[in-house]
Amino acid sequence: MNKGINILAIETSCDETAAAVLSVNLSREKWPQITTLSSVVKSQIALHSKMGGVVPETAARAHIKNIRPVVEKALKDSSYKLEAISYIAVTAGPGLMPSLLVGVEFAKGLALALNKPLIPVNHMAGHLYSAFSQSADQPISEKVFPNIALIVSGGHTMIVVMENKKKYKVIGQTVDDAAGEAFDKVAKLLKLPYPGGPEVSKLAEQGNPNAIAFPRPMLTHKNYNFSFSGLKTAVLYYLRDNPLTAKSYKLKADVCASFQAAVVDVLVQKTMRAVKEYKAKSVSLSGGVSANRSLREMLKVNCQLSKVKFLPSPLSLSGDNAEMIGLAASFMLHNGFKPKNFKQVKADSNLEL
Ligand code: KG4
Ligand code: ZN
Repeated sequence: MNKGINILAIETSCDETAAAVLSVNLSREKWPQITTLSSVVKSQIALHSKMGGVVPETAARAHIKNIRPVVEKALKDSSYKLEAISYIAVTAGPGLMPSLLVGVEFAKGLALALNKPLIPVNHMAGHLYSAFSQSADQPISEKVFPNIALIVSGGHTMIVVMENKKKYKVIGQTVDDAAGEAFDKVAKLLKLPYPGGPEVSKLAEQGNPNAIAFPRPMLTHKNYNFSFSGLKTAVLYYLRDNPLTAKSYKLKADVCASFQAAVVDVLVQKTMRAVKEYKAKSVSLSGGVSANRSLREMLKVNCQLSKVKFLPSPLSLSGDNAEMIGLAASFMLHNGFKPKNFKQVKADSNLEL
């Protein structure tokens, strides 16, 4: 195999159309050397904010419109011509089926036309490996294993144990709403704009996290699963008993801060329990909710206290993007993955990690 390769990665699982080009040196034995040459993300936030959430058919139509210009820009920014690309990587799932299909079919078309291998990537593996993006102040090597990965996004909340850069298993996930989904739903209850997560976290900075004693769901359960739907209902009942008025700024801020504290508390405590049980050397944090400042801070402090390395994915990679899909594809190749015929690549909205 040619050890110096480049990857064109494509991501369309939800409401971001994204493409990236990465140059990868696979010849190093222990860890691939990956350089991101370009990364383009076209968000559909403006489109979906009117409806207060992602409408799958609308998202798919926007992906169809955006995918070609986004891929062309990623290639142009990388200075690579399409013909010079060695591998195409695409998110195969999980995600919204109409959205996934646009990326997968586009990538299959490219693979066929250019006769290039196609790598189907699990979106959650993308989030997982986004924490392994190298930077000068965060050199990463195989010394970080065993690693406990907390992945918190709009659709998923999971704790993963990584034994090494190839072998990992999910040890806990949400039994109902994902953490990001809970943030978005609470934002709706508070009549905050979409997407709610960043709005709730912004308002939380002005509030008192101890003002309201919201429940810490499943905190004392022995397993690593989560449940956030009851917490959202607790916020609903609190607001029913304490209705919002035009002057409710303080109340809103206190609800945000107290809700956020409950979510962060559960996420951090369960993650740190896993660190202990699996004798982890590091904790990684990724997914859209990993942009949350309070979560980053609390996890960082807890890692310092437990003397384990903290690996948050860079903020630029917390939300959906194609660079993380390229990163996951790079590790897949380094781990020995052999791409199959592109005809075997299929979108799967429920693809498991
Ligand atoms: O990973 P992501 O971009 O998409 C999915 O794969 O779902 O995650 C999006 C989620 C949304 O629910 C959004 O509200 C949440 O991440 N989010 C945040 C913050 N920024 C984004 N949640 C809490 N605090 C934030 N600062
Ligand atoms: Zn995501």
